[in-house]
Amino acid sequence: MSITKQAVIQAQLPAKLAPQDAAEAFAPSNIALCKYWGKRDAELNLPINNSLSVSLGHLGTRTRLESAPDGTDRVYLNGVEQAQDQPFAAKLLAFVELFRAGRALPVHVHTENNIPTAAGLASSASGFAALTLALDRWLQLGLAPEVLSAFARMGSGSACRSLFEGFVEWRDGIHDDGMDSHGVPIPARWPGLQIGLVKVATGEKAVGSRAGMQRTIETAHLYQSWPLQAAADLEKLHQAIASRDFALLGQTAEQNALSMHATMIASWPPLLYWQPESVAAMQRVWQLREAGLAVYFTMDAGPNLKLLFEVQDRPAVEAAFPGLEVVAPFGD
Ligand code: DP6
Repeated sequence: MSITKQAVIQAQLPAKLAPQDAAEAFAPSNIALCKYWGKRDAELNLPINNSLSVSLGHLGTRTRLESAPDGTDRVYLNGVEQAQDQPFAAKLLAFVELFRAGRALPVHVHTENNIPTAAGLASSASGFAALTLALDRWLQLGLAPEVLSAFARMGSGSACRSLFEGFVEWRDGIHDDGMDSHGVPIPARWPGLQIGLVKVATGEKAVGSRAGMQRTIETAHLYQSWPLQAAADLEKLHQAIASRDFALLGQTAEQNALSMHATMIASWPPLLYWQPESVAAMQRVWQLREAGLAVYFTMDAGPNLKLLFEVQDRPAVEAAFPGLEVVAPFGD
């Protein structure tokens, strides 16, 4: 039995909490170039492998916490109040409760996502990162970014990378309480790096990441090779970032994503997140590469593609993918 999330968080908090009237925070969404797939501890979201992502600049979640004047918890998403028996509000309030631990501190949570709805991007990473930062400010905790990153991880693993801008590595850590498993910013910028969001489908997935990774570990023999693949890819990504080798970055990210999907497809029941349009988009990327364009893709546990390319190739990529939503994580 692992240590509980609440015990880990309470160990870092003062005995008396002093909430402000209100506090807010922003956190960016992130896209993994080396994926997190598989947990060694499901309670604390401790990963089997290290992962590496790039944060999406101004695209993400802004969360405002207000000490509730009406004495009742309330949760709003983009201005609309959410029912507390529905997963969105239930998960947020459960996370807030890890901090309150029974203390009577009713709160209103206002969450605004500016991730384009058409992008089909998960918002749980930026959502839990912004909520963690807002809790730190609301309760005047003044905790270090690494501690907050480890806390955000307990909301959703990938959220620990959204505490930081730019390239971020999430180290697996070795401690039982997981406090050494958090995001670590990589001090390198890549101006001109572009991410194109190819929307195949939005809406709820039949099997979320959490259940998907568990099924893969339990049923896919192929999963045994995943930690080795991830370790090798992480090494290559560090090299690519240090030497600004775009071909190495793109190739590694694409192969990493396809390797992760291979483990999912080899699960039982099979987990295939791709739609025919996903495969058509992959083939278009491969055709563009054969024609000499440096464009690559990555995919999470869903049907949408995220294209990787550099700013000078943006017109050609946009011509091949009309209506592409483009993000420049480091500016153009
Ligand atoms: C495929 O972070 O959503 O996007 O920790 O269970 O909340 P939980 O999972 P989550 O999984 C993300 C999986 C991924 C790869 C990645 O972002 O690294």
